[in-house]
Amino acid sequence: MTNTPTAQIGVTGLATMGRNLARNIARHGYVTAVHNRTESKTKALVGEFGHEGTFVPAATAEEFVASLTVPRTIIIMVKAGAPTDAVIDELAPLLEEGDILVDGGNAHFADTRRREVALRERGIHFAGVGISGGEEGALLGPSIMPGGSEHAYAKLGPILADIAVDVDGTPCSTHVGPDGAGHFVKMVHNGIEYADMQLIAEAYDLLRHGLGWTPERLAEVFESWNSGDLESFLIEITARVLRAGDPSQPERPLVDVIVDEAEQKGTGRWTVQTALDLGTPVSGIAEAVFARALSGSAAQRRAAQGVLPGPAEVPAVGEPGGEEGAGGFVDAADAESFVEDVRAALYASKVVAYAQGFDMIRAGSVEYGWGIDPGAMATIWRGGCIIRARFLDRIREAYEKQPDLPSLLVDPYFAGAVAAGQEAWRRVVVQSVQSGIPAPGFSSALAYYDGLRRERSSAALVQGLRDLFGAHTYRRVDRPGSFHIDWSGDLSESQFS
Ligand code: 6PG
Repeated sequence: MTNTPTAQIGVTGLATMGRNLARNIARHGYVTAVHNRTESKTKALVGEFGHEGTFVPAATAEEFVASLTVPRTIIIMVKAGAPTDAVIDELAPLLEEGDILVDGGNAHFADTRRREVALRERGIHFAGVGISGGEEGALLGPSIMPGGSEHAYAKLGPILADIAVDVDGTPCSTHVGPDGAGHFVKMVHNGIEYADMQLIAEAYDLLRHGLGWTPERLAEVFESWNSGDLESFLIEITARVLRAGDPSQPERPLVDVIVDEAEQKGTGRWTVQTALDLGTPVSGIAEAVFARALSGSAAQRRAAQGVLPGPAEVPAVGEPGGEEGAGGFVDAADAESFVEDVRAALYASKVVAYAQGFDMIRAGSVEYGWGIDPGAMATIWRGGCIIRARFLDRIREAYEKQPDLPSLLVDPYFAGAVAAGQEAWRRVVVQSVQSGIPAPGFSSALAYYDGLRRERSSAALVQGLRDLFGAHTYRRVDRPGSFHIDWSGDLSESQFS
């Protein structure tokens, strides 16, 4: 071990993501300092993968900092929240003005903003960097959403572009904006990931109970979808999960032995909480978060089973794991068109979820003055990340054509695609309601679509009610100003402002 600074970049926090990111960086030829709170992980990394590049292992934070060339660049890869603050508190006193501290975890963007201000006062550049792609992405090429100052990005950007995955020769990494912008965009990415997964799960549920097909046969359906507009990592892995057998009894589908309660680490919930503050209706993400919460309400679900009746005349759905052809609520003769309807409903609902996510990015960018380019976000999500999908290229094109696009849904391509699937989408929502298979993602996406396209909304009545009980006033369609009716008197109208 030496104190002569040779390392171009350092990674502290060598759990799976940190370890793989450090290996990725070292494999790209960077001399990489590595450090972990417990030294055994550092030794294990260098012992197992030392041949992949030049690692400089450090036993202590002091040694770690001393091994880095100035200005130092350190990537923190520890759990979001208190563990990140603890590492910053340990490292910051050892750093000098001009050094760059990077948080590569799933931090809340508000924490990143707070940390950036505190470290800026000490002359340290703090960059919150969103990294997506799981363990494999971290090693082989993630999608990277770097926030932070231009100064930090000038040093960091080329390294991140090197280790990120490439799509059509373009690295999936670009400067998102200052302070918390990178972590904000990563948070919305995760929110969209929640919505996408919820919609896929609803499609599976409807097909399984509508057709009575086995998960293995449904895997084929998802595989075929993966060669069309729906082509994406999540559709691809859906087929893999549906095809898998229970390792302890392989003829039984794995999906039937997994407890049906979805967990969450919190980024989807943060997205919805933030959207509420920004006033952005991300209903698809909210439905996904709530659907996970409902799935986890085990005691309430147990209490309701057998007590709350479902629709009477629907044929009994095949038991999970039932034989192919056990039957569902769709006639066998209509199977093919039902599959096509569900595909169209999934695509249309997905477009809505992404449209809402991009609206939220724009709203956050305006609120915090980040200047985020939505098209650039679509570009860096085309590869490496969990929501990577063919249609992100269409989103990139839409923003390229019209950077101030009011909604993805009004882009000619997406408007046309959703219109083409509209009738199928409505049929699927009706069938879900009639059969008692909940599809909150599909139906709320359709409600959003209808809410967006209608000339007059029911909110006029809401405004009237607010004026009646609280004198909250209303605006008129035919002249400017705020108005109030004398509800307890002669019903005359008075004008304010
Ligand atoms: C990614 C993922 C990653 C992770 C999330 C989701 O982009 O690589 O989004 O961040 O899978 O933590 O986790 P939960 O579903 O547990 O909230």
